[in-house]
Amino acid sequence: MDLVLLGAPGAGKGTQASLLGEVFPLPRVSSGDLFRAALANQTELGRKAKVYMDRGELVPDEVTIAMVAERIAEPDCAQGVIFDGFPRTVAQAQALDDLLARQGRRVDLVLYMRVATPVLLERLAGRWTCPQCGRVYHRVYSPEQVQGVCDDCHVALYQRADDTAETQSRRIAVYLEQTAPLQDYYRAKGLLAEVDGEQTIEAVHRALVEAVRAVSAGGAA
Ligand code: AP5
Repeated sequence: MDLVLLGAPGAGKGTQASLLGEVFPLPRVSSGDLFRAALANQTELGRKAKVYMDRGELVPDEVTIAMVAERIAEPDCAQGVIFDGFPRTVAQAQALDDLLARQGRRVDLVLYMRVATPVLLERLAGRWTCPQCGRVYHRVYSPEQVQGVCDDCHVALYQRADDTAETQSRRIAVYLEQTAPLQDYYRAKGLLAEVDGEQTIEAVHRALVEAVRAVSAGGAA
């Protein structure tokens, strides 16, 4: 099953992708995490992506599509994927359709989490991440047990470089301009399931699981 998580920066895509992966045994493919890993490994791709990420802009489609295509060609992705942060433009969505079609697959469901901008900003400002396992915390909504330390890896948490106030606002504006049109793209295909993303993490998770189960049982999204 191939699932796409759609939502603005801070909507909870990473949080929910990890939780969904515990229910549905599918790998999570996060384009943002792939870029951050490339950056940490000081690859050419990472250096290229950094310029855009620091500005809160999208990395060009051809670079992003090639990176995701390479990742989903790996054996662990053969039975399906939870896509987090990809696609983000109509061109990326069309490329994903083509990539999956070559393997006799298609996007089965797009889970769109609707969250208002002031809530997004509050979430991004309070986010802390584990550099080792990528687990995401929030100072108020999902705090770690010992402040500043990952519960699982016991290493110091960090705040993402693109979570400055200025870059956050730019990322949200870019989302509204370039990614929000994907709601119509997938709605027209009958693939969009819309969820109130302002509920608690657990309530959003339950709603998403319900939507996925409805589709895997053959029901409507
Ligand atoms: P990316 O890493 O994908 O970032 P993003 O889309 O901006 O999304 P975030 O990771 O910021 O938010 P999220 O929705 O995952 O929320 P999270 O679960 O962390 O992209 C970064 C950059 O990479 C882009 O700007 C671009 O430059 C580049 N890029 C990536 N993909 C690309 C693509 N396809 N094309 C081109 N460029 C690309 O939650 C946020 C916080 O809220 C956390 O603290 C969490 O604990 C908390 N939280 C989550 N859910 C709830 C809830 N229900 N209630 C209360 N708090 C909650």
